[in-house]
Amino acid sequence: MKTLVLNVDPHKPSVAEIQIAAKIIQHGGLVAFPTETVYGLGADALNDDAVIRLFKAKKRPLDNPPIVHIANASDVYSLVTEVSSMAELLMTTFWPGPLTLVFRRSANLPKETTAGLDTLALRMPNHPIALSLISQTHRPIAAPSANLSGRPSPTTAQHVYEDLNGRIDAIIDGGATKIGVESTVVDLSCDPPMLLRPGGISFGALKKVIGNLRLHPFVQSEVELTLEKTSSPGMKHKHYAPKTPIIIIEGNVEAIILKINQLIKIYKLKGVKVGVLATDETQAAYHTDVVVSLGSRFNINTVASNLFRLLRKVDSEGVDVILAEAVPLEGLGLAVMNRLRKASGYNIIKV
Ligand code: TXA
Ligand code: MG
Repeated sequence: MKTLVLNVDPHKPSVAEIQIAAKIIQHGGLVAFPTETVYGLGADALNDDAVIRLFKAKKRPLDNPPIVHIANASDVYSLVTEVSSMAELLMTTFWPGPLTLVFRRSANLPKETTAGLDTLALRMPNHPIALSLISQTHRPIAAPSANLSGRPSPTTAQHVYEDLNGRIDAIIDGGATKIGVESTVVDLSCDPPMLLRPGGISFGALKKVIGNLRLHPFVQSEVELTLEKTSSPGMKHKHYAPKTPIIIIEGNVEAIILKINQLIKIYKLKGVKVGVLATDETQAAYHTDVVVSLGSRFNINTVASNLFRLLRKVDSEGVDVILAEAVPLEGLGLAVMNRLRKASGYNIIKV
């Protein structure tokens, strides 16, 4: 399959280009497009064949449903059985934006779209290209992140191309995504509501609106948890992993620097090539094969926006091991640490 690349200005998306992409989706095809979080791979959520093709293109396990994207909050009502006043408050406060809400699903969607679950994850993204594409398609759009399953989520069209060229119909290149980690997923089908995946909207911001919101134990876990039946299927699948092994070093900054330098020395003796994921404040402290900074420790939003791009970059530099500094858990830090810990397979050294 030849993958068409459409260049679209994210500030003023060309109607003609978006029409081409919308037609592809209406005919059951797959189009990758930018959102404010990461690139998504879109298919018509009402077309079971298209959704099956979506899973195949990503090599995604069939039991892990995609998020369904809508362009108007009012589209929620036909897709779910009940919209509580809490849900409406969240929608008016955070949509369009990086918040995904899990509802009980209505019978309007094929079972493939929800992987047989009786719930549905919905989000209205805050990106002109995404909104224009969904509107012009006149359908809800199933869109998981546009990476091969198990790879870091794509924050540029180039990342999508690396993973999916030849496997999908088109990629809309609308530049780098802003937030860089995926949306926060909140399950409203249980009581009290539960945060299943930390992401672009912080736990703190949500707590101001839903006082009784709980954090799922998986979110902050420092070990690999196994559950018989997880409420979010994505939790049990290996995620965000580069090909190179990663070790996370957690503790205060001085201790982290000491430990990483110790490890660098030991690895050097053994002839092991080392990459370090550092921060602006610490990167000068390391002398090894590859050192990159995720951004300032005092600007965790920048760290989040650089995370997946730099994971891919360090992974492509031919190092044998990646040592990554932990960052504070405040704000988007919770999402960053959740992704890093998963990427390492919970290979964590505490100092
Ligand atoms: O920012 C994002 O959310 C991006 C952009 C493209 O919108 N999308 C994204 O989709 O990250 P995906 O499919 O890679 O991740 C969806 C997550 C998975 O962890 C999945 O298990 C969970 O949402 N999910 C989907 N449906 C669910 C449901 N009914 N109940 C609980 N979790 C669900
Ligand atoms: Mg994903």
